[in-house]
Amino acid sequence: MSGSVFYKMSQMETEYTVGDALFSKKEIDDRTRELAGQIVRDVRGEELLVVGILSGAVFFLTDLVRCLPRELDVKIDFMSVSSYGDATTSSGTVRILKDLGSDIAGRNVLVVEDIIDTGLTLSYLLKILKARHPKSLRTCVLLDKSARRETAVDVDYCGFNAPDVFVVGYGLDCGGRYRHLPDIHVVNL
Ligand code: IMP
Repeated sequence: MSGSVFYKMSQMETEYTVGDALFSKKEIDDRTRELAGQIVRDVRGEELLVVGILSGAVFFLTDLVRCLPRELDVKIDFMSVSSYGDATTSSGTVRILKDLGSDIAGRNVLVVEDIIDTGLTLSYLLKILKARHPKSLRTCVLLDKSARRETAVDVDYCGFNAPDVFVVGYGLDCGGRYRHLPDIHVVNL
C-alpha cells in the first residue's frame, strides 16, 4: 500500500505511510479459530460474557465469537475507554466513556482487546471489572507488544506477539484511519 498521509500528532504534522501486511486476514482467521478452541475448553460449557473494548476490538471479537459453538451460552457486551486520544503513544490516562450494560457479578467474563502495548488500559479495566466480582475474568488480546509493557497484566489468550511498531488495520487505527483494512499493516512514521 503506498501514498503518505499527514497525521496530526500533538501540535505537529507528521508524515507516515502504511507498509506491507504484518499479519494477513488468513493468518488472523487461523489463529482466531485456535484461540476459540482454547476458550471453549476452559469455559467448560458455562455461560460466557464476551466484553469487547470499543472500537478497535470489534473486528476481532466478531470473528472470535463466530468460532464458538452454538451450544455455548455466549453473551456480548462492550465498553469504551479513552487512552490514546490522537497520539500514537500512551497518555497513561484512561477514562470510561461507555460502561457495560449488564451486571457481571458471578459470571464468566472474557475481555477482548485488539492490542496490548504498555498494558495501562487493560490493567485499569481489569481492576474495575474485578471489583464487580465476576466468577472468572479472563483476557484475550489479538496482538501483544510485550517489549513495551509498563505494568504487568495477565493475558490468558494471545493471538500474536507483535514487534515494537505502530500497526493499523483489522480494527486498529491511526488517527481514526485504516480500521477497515482486512490485514494488519505496519505504519512507517
Ligand atoms: P496500552 O494501554 O498502552 O496497552 O494501549 C492499548 C491501546 O492502545 C489499544 O487498545 C489501542 O487502542 C492502542 N494502541 C496501542 N498500540 C497500537 C498500535 O500499534 N496501533 C493502533 N492502536 C494501538
